[in-house]
Amino acid sequence: MKLPRFIYHTKKKNGFVTTKILRIFSFKRKMRYEEYFEWPSWLKRPQIKNCGRNTYCGSNVSIPNHEETSIGAFCSLGHSIDIGHGVHPTHVLTTSPFFYNRECRWMLPDSPDYPHLWSQKILPVHIGSDVWIGNGVFIKNGINIGHGAIVGAHSVVTKDVPPYAIVAGNPAKLIRYRFSEDIIEKLLELKWWELDDDFLRLLPFEDMQKCISMLEQKRQKL
Ligand SMILES: CC(C)(COP(=O)(O)OP(=O)(O)OC[C@H]1O[C@@H](n2cnc3c(N)ncnc32)[C@H](O)[C@@H]1OP(=O)(O)O)[C@@H](O)C(=O)NCCC(=O)NCCS
Repeated sequence: MKLPRFIYHTKKKNGFVTTKILRIFSFKRKMRYEEYFEWPSWLKRPQIKNCGRNTYCGSNVSIPNHEETSIGAFCSLGHSIDIGHGVHPTHVLTTSPFFYNRECRWMLPDSPDYPHLWSQKILPVHIGSDVWIGNGVFIKNGINIGHGAIVGAHSVVTKDVPPYAIVAGNPAKLIRYRFSEDIIEKLLELKWWELDDDFLRLLPFEDMQKCISMLEQKRQKL
């Protein structure tokens, strides 16, 4: 359910969210929490087994190894992204699977099998939490992308991406880090994405120092 754009204030009470509408409409509407928090249609879930909460993707995200690939929580994935695709053999006459994969229905019935050429394991990609992957990115199989990283639009990722790095290009190279080394160290220690939603919603997320001290206090209490 889409919230009307003129809503300017919401208030929680007894399992309801009261929405106050601009005065010209001078009326109030109560919604159930579940209705309020329902995802809009443009937020889709990546179709894999291990995907953290509040991670969404655009259309045309292809992940062949959906059993083993993992994506953390609060990740934003754009459109047309290829994550961990297979490889063809390069050291034989042809890279074409028609020569070695029976499923293509071209090999003679009595020719040998070539499982070492076509059924090589597609290594899973592991993506941390709070990662933003721009439109049109290709990520080679077996790659690890650290928590908090950003991959620029149309990048080709051939090497692991360190936490909180911003990488871009073909092949993807480091542009800069999102934060200073000491802040990155703290964030990796505090792992905010593991904490409960009711706490996270109240974080002053534009103020890194305040966030870090609130996260430290929260962690101490756990
Ligand atoms: C990666 C990104 C976040 C960096 O943004 P930024 O911090 O504003 O970076 P800048 O524009 O200052 O660029 C810094 C350098 O990286 C290069 N760069 C930035 N994005 C790049 C990209 N996608 N591919 C290649 N190079 C890129 C710039 O050319 C610049 O190079 P220079 O220092 O040699 O001049 C942004 O460019 C991007 O790709 N965003 C993704 C957008 C998207 O896909 N949105 C879909 C919705 S999820």
